[in-house]
Amino acid sequence: MNFVVTAGPTREHLDPVRFLSNPSTGKMGFAVAAEAAKRGHDVTLVAGPVTLKTPMGVARVDVVSARDMLAAVKDALCKSGAEPTVVVSTAAVADWRPAKCATKKLKKHQMSGTLKLVRNPDILKTVTGCLKVGFAAETDNVLAEASRKCREKGLSFIVANDVTEKGSGFGTDTNRVTFVYPDGTLRRHPLMTKRRVAGAILDSISELASD
Ligand code: CTP
Repeated sequence: MNFVVTAGPTREHLDPVRFLSNPSTGKMGFAVAAEAAKRGHDVTLVAGPVTLKTPMGVARVDVVSARDMLAAVKDALCKSGAEPTVVVSTAAVADWRPAKCATKKLKKHQMSGTLKLVRNPDILKTVTGCLKVGFAAETDNVLAEASRKCREKGLSFIVANDVTEKGSGFGTDTNRVTFVYPDGTLRRHPLMTKRRVAGAILDSISELASD
């Protein structure tokens, strides 16, 4: 199969030296890309700004903003061959960007106390014609929110986790996740390394693809 994996944060610049972003380190997405390549799949990893090394056997495309990420994902989907394609979206995509990005550093007298924002595209919702797996990193109503996103984005399943829980969330090497399916089925997993979570995701994708 072909895999397109998104990872890391996006940055939404308001000038060359300032941006909106989040603390994602990309560890989960890099683990998924590494595990998929190890299992013999063709993998394109579309990565926001992170400091991780490219896993062996993975083609990496570096991007900055959500709009760059969407373009790179579309490009990777166009290039993917006849085999079925799976998009695994682990990226913490910024939902909003500054309405304007200045080409030169803004001076404080040029800025007001209010920043006008516009919505970014939803990458996972936009792409079609492939099997889609998403992530829901939540702080409350974890399973209900994950279930809503799974249905709204047309996903095969969504990987839900509570980022307030010890050992889960941004920057950790472990995660405790539940796979939520569109029909409401839940698969709960114990606290595992992100690499083992990646293995469980790949196992579930193989099951779906062989149905
Ligand atoms: N996602 C995406 N493009 C966006 C926002 C999110 O592709 N602009 C993907 C994420 O990579 C993740 C899934 O959608 O796989 C859910 O992301 P999340 O940020 O939890 O949800 P949102 O759609 O932003 O919803 P909300 O703001 O209501 O939490």
